Amino acid sequence: MARTRSILALAACLPSAFALPHNTPIDLRSPAPQRRADLPSAEERTQAVVDVFRRSWEGYTEYAFPNDELKPVTNGFSNSRNKWGASAVDALSTALVMGQKDIVNEIIEYIPTIDYFETPTEVSLFETTIRYLGGMLSGYDFLNGPLADLADNKTNVEQLLKQSENLANAMSFAFDTPSGVPYNGLNFEDRTTDGGPNGLATTGTLVLEWVRLSDLSGNKTYAALTEKAESYLLSPKPATSEPWPGLVGTNIDPETGEFLDASGGWVGGTDSFYEYLIKMYVYDPERYAEYKDRWVLAADSTIEHLTSHPASRPDLTFVAMYNGKNLRLISQHLACFDGGNFILGGTVLGEQRYIDYGLELVEGCHETYTATATGIGPETFAWDEKNVPSDQSTFYNESGFYITDAGYQLRPEVIESWYYAYRVTGDPKYQEWAWDAFNDIIDTTEVGSGYSSIRDVNAEDGGGFTDFQESFWFAEVLKYSYLIHAPEAEWQVGKDGKNAWVFNTEAHPFQVFDGSK
Ligand SMILES: *[C@@H]1O[C@H](CO)[C@@H](O)[C@H](O)[C@H]1NC(C)=O
Ligand SMILES: *[C@@H]1O[C@H](CO)[C@@H](O)[C@H](O)[C@H]1NC(C)=O
Ligand SMILES: *[C@@H]1O[C@H](CO)[C@@H](O)[C@H](O)[C@H]1NC(C)=O
Repeated sequence: MARTRSILALAACLPSAFALPHNTPIDLRSPAPQRRADLPSAEERTQAVVDVFRRSWEGYTEYAFPNDELKPVTNGFSNSRNKWGASAVDALSTALVMGQKDIVNEIIEYIPTIDYFETPTEVSLFETTIRYLGGMLSGYDFLNGPLADLADNKTNVEQLLKQSENLANAMSFAFDTPSGVPYNGLNFEDRTTDGGPNGLATTGTLVLEWVRLSDLSGNKTYAALTEKAESYLLSPKPATSEPWPGLVGTNIDPETGEFLDASGGWVGGTDSFYEYLIKMYVYDPERYAEYKDRWVLAADSTIEHLTSHPASRPDLTFVAMYNGKNLRLISQHLACFDGGNFILGGTVLGEQRYIDYGLELVEGCHETYTATATGIGPETFAWDEKNVPSDQSTFYNESGFYITDAGYQLRPEVIESWYYAYRVTGDPKYQEWAWDAFNDIIDTTEVGSGYSSIRDVNAEDGGGFTDFQESFWFAEVLKYSYLIHAPEAEWQVGKDGKNAWVFNTEAHPFQVFDGSK
């Protein structure tokens, strides 16, 4: 998830894009792994994903590290995440679950050298929390726990926690507002902020990381700050900002802690607030029972009021957006995490109806992949019969949706939900879908020294490259593509609702609270 990434914020951070034809000669650093669509065994599949991970890492270290991202077409780099080496920190937990010891040690040797108090650019409290804090805390949990053997140097492991504290301390002035709801945009140099308002997801997707940091470090302030901010989201005011029980607006005023609107959904800008309500309960059911109660309200209201079946394909299920009680028949790739989240909630609460609903959503998002020329789903889509563009009429009639933004930015959410579906049902169909999507993504996005966002999922060749490789390519797409075929391990999602680990929205697994601290 890589997630909330409101579409606008993400577009703003993309480097100005240009396209090269697919066959532009490029000095390849290492030969691309062979596509082998017929691979039968789980081992060969996991090895194919590891090969792509290693090739991505080599390209990044050769041309971009310690900058944030690789520009794979031009073998350049960009710094959309504060110039602290976002791709390296985001890659750590994936290198760990894949057992790539050399890469693990490269990353944990680098992390102690980051100066988290200095950055040339504005800091997003949310993005920095989910990518950097999440990546370091996950690394610390693994290397202090079941994967301790992968670290060559214990000092570097301890530094993961120390650097997490440094980063949180550098950002904590964000919460210094009249209400305690933080500002999201931070300027470290003069300790000023963007002045708000803050968003639902950017406010409500901090608590898992900051609570984990409190539980590991013993400093209770981190939990207190984020729980206070979250309290306004759990008891939303004014009442009009909650059009149906549990479903709330998008913008919050940090001066008052009140919502400023009543529009939302499970899309970018709001999504991971709902995701974390149930994940906090997975993390510690004693402390976070109220969060679970709010998730149940939101889930029930979603099933009852937001469920939508396209007129041309009534067999498909999508979740609509809303503005007050008016539905908007549009959705996003980002929203496709919702199936997985319903499945997780259903297993944890022992409620089959949430699992069944999640599996319906998973089928709908599968259609957004299989309907396009590349086999990859679009950034945004809609199914409002009154507004079908004439040139997509046939496409809409067949597929049940039309494309409103055809880009693909190396996002994970569809494969992420297939991962939950597979773990919980054991149905190998979801592994096949993930394997097909992985191969289609590699075929379409592989270019130069890495993998690039593309412009048009409905053009055979992807419609051109934007020359940008997101850090969550490492953290999420490759992790879920790997784990769905990987052997049992304590960090894999449990099919019976028992989970020893919980994944943050950037796919960094944390050990659940064990009551000992
Ligand atoms: C471990 O890493 C630290 C730097 O983080 C370094 O000072 C120390 O010498 C290393 N120890 C060994 C045994 O390599
Ligand atoms: C605990 O965290 C807060 C918030 O970042 C920080 O101000 C404080 O110095 C920390 N306390 C200790 C003992 O490190
Ligand atoms: C799509 O379906 C509608 C309703 O059945 C029909 O009016 C329209 O002609 C169809 N469009 C195409 C291009 O087949």
